[in-house]
Formats: sequence, C-alpha cells, structure tokens
Amino acid sequence: MHALHDLLTVVDHPLVQHKLTLMRDKGASSAEFRRLLHEITLLLAYEITSEMPMTTRAIETPLEEMDAPILAGKKLAVVSILRAGNGMLDGVLQLVPSARVGFIGLYRDEETLKPVQYYFKVPEGMNDRMVIVVDPMLATGNSSAAAIDLLKQAGASDIRFLCLLAAPEGVERMREAHPDVPIVTASLDRGLNSKGYIMPGLGDAGDRMFGTK
Ligand code: URA
Repeated sequence: MHALHDLLTVVDHPLVQHKLTLMRDKGASSAEFRRLLHEITLLLAYEITSEMPMTTRAIETPLEEMDAPILAGKKLAVVSILRAGNGMLDGVLQLVPSARVGFIGLYRDEETLKPVQYYFKVPEGMNDRMVIVVDPMLATGNSSAAAIDLLKQAGASDIRFLCLLAAPEGVERMREAHPDVPIVTASLDRGLNSKGYIMPGLGDAGDRMFGTK
C-alpha cells in the first residue's frame, strides 16, 4: 500500500486479490460477480476514505465526558459513472451511509471518438465535499477524465477515483489530465488490447454484472 498522496494506490490485501481472481474467472455467474464486486468495493472504499477530514465532538460516555473523533465537513459525495459504476455504489454507501450520490452518463461519439455527456446529476455544494468517483474499469481513461472535467466544472476540487482494474494507459491519461486526483484500484493490469479491453482483465464489467451478454 502506498500513501494516498501518490497518484496510484494498488490495494494488494489478500482478500481483495482472492476475490478479484474469482471475479476474473469467466465461469463466475452475474450474481457472484456482483457480490464479489460489492465485497471488494467495501475494502477499497476503506482505503480511499483513510484520509477523510476529522474533527472532534464533545460526548458523554456512561463514565465521563470526552472529545471524541468524528468526520468533519460536508457529507461525502459518491459519483457513479454509468452503468458499471453502479456495481460499486452500494459498497461505498454501506461504509458511508450518509454520503450523497451523483450519476454521470457518457457515450462515445463514433465520429469524434470523444465522450459526450447524456446524463449529469450531482448533489449541491460539490466544492465543499470529498468526491469519490466509482467506475470498475480504468481503461483508456477518456471517459474517466471527461467525467472528472464535468465534476470540476460543477465546483468539485477534492476528487478521488475508485476502480477495480486499471490499465497503464488509463493511469497515464489521468496523470496528464488530472494529476490532483488519486486513484485506488485492486490491480494495475498489463495493458489494453486493440479493442480497448483491459488485459488480462475480466471482460466487459457491465455485461458481466448485469448479464447482458
Ligand atoms: N470496460 C470494460 O468493461 N472492460 C474493459 O476491459 C475495458 C473497459
């Protein structure tokens, strides 16, 4: 584990790596795939929230008064990049139930090959929130970089990116476009194939979690 101020943190915890292997296997059912993604997200979210700002609150235990640590500032925002990001949403919300939730939908224009926004809805006050963007696959990085452009336009400045797998190409793209956004992932895979799939990867994350192929 590297500290989060590095751009890339690979969580090599044995439970994360074991569950990831089960997910990569093409024999995993959609139900297993979703369950494992949820479980891994809990562990990755634990890491990505490790530097949340804290304050103290005066409370009384049954024995005495104390100033006890508590999260500070506005509630966290978790932003799902549709549609595969939705597979990681509940994991983050289970750890931080009070988080606000946003969604970003992007498609690729077949002529310009650039990501085009078709849906954007995020909580108010983004400038005061820690924002965790979730998308299982950081492949070319084009849609992730575009999503973060949109979040910055909405005022967000404390943004982190949570993914299951990252390709070196995507990490590089993010490093160029958004060097201020730390990335937490379960694995840095070998690279992209000619169709833009992460290798060895796990295939199309959306199709595998929703059974659409
Ligand atoms: N998106 C996916 O779902 N899988 C990949 O391998 C790359 C992008």
